[in-house]
Amino acid sequence: MEITTKELREKYLSYFKGKNHAIIQSASLIPDNDPTVLFTTAGMHPLVPYLLGQKHPQGNRLADVQKCVRTGDIDDVGDATHCTFFEMLGNWSLGDYFKKESISFSYEFLTEVLKIPSEKIAVTVFKGDEDCERDEYSANCWIEKGIKKDNVFYLPKENNWWGPAGITGPCGPDTEIFYIRNQEKCCDECSPACNCGRYVEIWNNVFMEFFKNEDKTYSPLKQKNVDTGMGLERTVAMLNGYESVYDIDVFKPIIDFIKSQSSFTDENEGVKAMRIIADHIRTATFMLGDEKGVTPGNVDQGYILRRLIRRAVRFSRVINMDFANLSKIAEMYIDEYSAYYPELKENHDKIINELNLEIDRFTKTLTQGLKEFEKLLYYIKDKRISGKAAFKLYDTYGFPIEMTQELAKDNGVVVDIEGFEKAFKEHQAISHAGAEQKFKGGLADNSVISSRLHTATHLLNATLKVVLNDNNIQQKGSNITSERLRFDFNFPRPLTKEELQEVEDRINEIIKEDVPVVCKEMPIEEARALGAIGVFANKYGEVVKTYTIGKYSMEMCGGPHANSTGELGKFKIIKEQSSSSGIRRIKAVITGCDNFKE
Ligand code: ALA
Repeated sequence: MEITTKELREKYLSYFKGKNHAIIQSASLIPDNDPTVLFTTAGMHPLVPYLLGQKHPQGNRLADVQKCVRTGDIDDVGDATHCTFFEMLGNWSLGDYFKKESISFSYEFLTEVLKIPSEKIAVTVFKGDEDCERDEYSANCWIEKGIKKDNVFYLPKENNWWGPAGITGPCGPDTEIFYIRNQEKCCDECSPACNCGRYVEIWNNVFMEFFKNEDKTYSPLKQKNVDTGMGLERTVAMLNGYESVYDIDVFKPIIDFIKSQSSFTDENEGVKAMRIIADHIRTATFMLGDEKGVTPGNVDQGYILRRLIRRAVRFSRVINMDFANLSKIAEMYIDEYSAYYPELKENHDKIINELNLEIDRFTKTLTQGLKEFEKLLYYIKDKRISGKAAFKLYDTYGFPIEMTQELAKDNGVVVDIEGFEKAFKEHQAISHAGAEQKFKGGLADNSVISSRLHTATHLLNATLKVVLNDNNIQQKGSNITSERLRFDFNFPRPLTKEELQEVEDRINEIIKEDVPVVCKEMPIEEARALGAIGVFANKYGEVVKTYTIGKYSMEMCGGPHANSTGELGKFKIIKEQSSSSGIRRIKAVITGCDNFKE
């Protein structure tokens, strides 16, 4: 059956709506309060507090389409199935239905709505180990529904266990659903665990009943949840019988446009480069246009974004495409997706400007790197660029190693890649040591610390408006680690020393007052009418949670929070800086509270 991404989104949401699931909005690509991951990687990620037992304002059956980014497989992008950005269709039971109903919904949706013949479906279930029993129950549910016994496979944790999204968190055994392609088994042991291409994964139903602790042990959760995820792009490609995800409706016009702008003749290599450009610019567009938008930089999310844009430039060079076309591609994506993700349209100018700025910066880097490369060519002996020299080009001039390799090839010299990797690993070891240091000691009590920092963030948000006498100030980003909060907001100039001091003093006064933090659920209209602030683009009629801190602050937020401001100890701003054009960033800590004891 021919199906578009739009149709699959609609069919999925309407099916689960019919099964009493509330349809929720996609959350931001930037996770709130999870220091262990940079991006939202699955639909469950923004729902972690609710999987842990907090009550969701919209009930215990939810479904959505979530924007996700996974950059772990970046080197595979360009093959038939990998993308760095994708949309995940998901449905959840928060302590409501469990295995039987979940399997029944999936079976019905696939065979009756999408009309996939039952014999074309294979499933895997958890084989069992010391942490959790063999999942005969799910296997039987599938067989009762009509899945052939031969198409049910039992696999170990490596294949049939999902989560947590970060280091700790909810997780559990899963049952994965595969489409069987018209291709013979590759061997007697052929199963969904092998990569021969016979089985294409389309859906994953996770039975989240465990919490993975920091010491790698598992504890039972308060409630048994279901978390499912279906990759939109892959499923559309599979349903249409396409060989690659890049053939689906959202990519086709982009790939055609890139083709028309390139003068590249080598069909095979060209295809990979074109897919990489199509993928990376889509991801960059969503990152820049996110409601908590990122801008290119040298750390964290900004660094990944920078890498994606620069890779897209590099591959444009490979296929001889003018870099100016990259922002045209971004425009095409904005048009394509704005109906579903209005933030892209709202942030149109930012997306295009930041993209062009980064392309300009990289063009300068390339020019500089090329000069250095020429010098290097002049000095090297025996037609070989050492690993150290290649690393220096990369580290000092931002010159990607792939560029060095390509240029070396053009000039008939080789690059010592092993030496480069060695130098790279040594460098990474140093930065990892730094990262570990950063989180040392705090994570065990992360929930308590982050709750308090979360409350501190609300106080900061409210107090900035007062001290700067500007009601237009809005949260533009927030990130909390076990050690500090980071808060981005719109303001046109640096804050003065006096202003920063006043913000600190006022917040410390509120802490001293020990004001209770009160949580209340109400329809969004009521929250707005009461003057609650918030960054969520909730829909009309939705019930939201609000947190009120006396007369000082009222904000829509998912929580969790401190019980009262006295828990915060003392608030201190450690840095105020520019984050991007028109956006200031404050980093602050709380001290003197018993963070590390509870
Ligand atoms: N969270 C599960 C996944 O990402 C559904 O596969």
